[in-house]
Amino acid sequence: MKTIAVGLFIAGGALVLNAEDVKVNVSKLPPAAARQGVTFDKDIRPMFEKSCFKCHGPDVEKPKGKFRADTKANVMKGGGDAAPVVAGDLTKSPLMAMVARQTEDEDLFMPPTDNKAKIPPLTKDEIGLVRAWIE
Ligand code: HEC
Repeated sequence: MKTIAVGLFIAGGALVLNAEDVKVNVSKLPPAAARQGVTFDKDIRPMFEKSCFKCHGPDVEKPKGKFRADTKANVMKGGGDAAPVVAGDLTKSPLMAMVARQTEDEDLFMPPTDNKAKIPPLTKDEIGLVRAWIE
């Protein structure tokens, strides 16, 4: 079982990604999408537009967690100290655990459970696409 510690701390009431305790349990993730040549702009951005932009979009004045999900560069950079995604390394990509709803702290599930906009969790296929993109 491959896991890694990447985590969060609560700073002024806000959750901030940092190097501690988000474990990415690769064996529990859905399989990577079989699709070849997955790119951020073609495959990931449209999904994030639907599932994340309400809170992390380019037009949101104060994106949640200071995180914007609109460009590959912004997704790799993140909103805090830790990178949400490290190319080629699922275990160092807390975003993977967040969208797969694997984090110990349910506040980190993305999109959040019971969000007011009623944005549903990513489907298995969508999670598989995120996985394929990171890998
Ligand atoms: C309904 C609002 C909402 C939606 C939709 C949403 N998020 Fe979030 N997101 C949040 C909140 C709230 C936080 C925590 C911010 C805080 O407490 O400072 C957060 C934090 C994050 C962070 C951590 C940023 C950091 O570096 O601290 C990442 C990464 C993230 N979200 C990814 C996503 C992704 C990917 C999606 C879509 C699949 C998504 N979120 C959808 C509200 C949302």
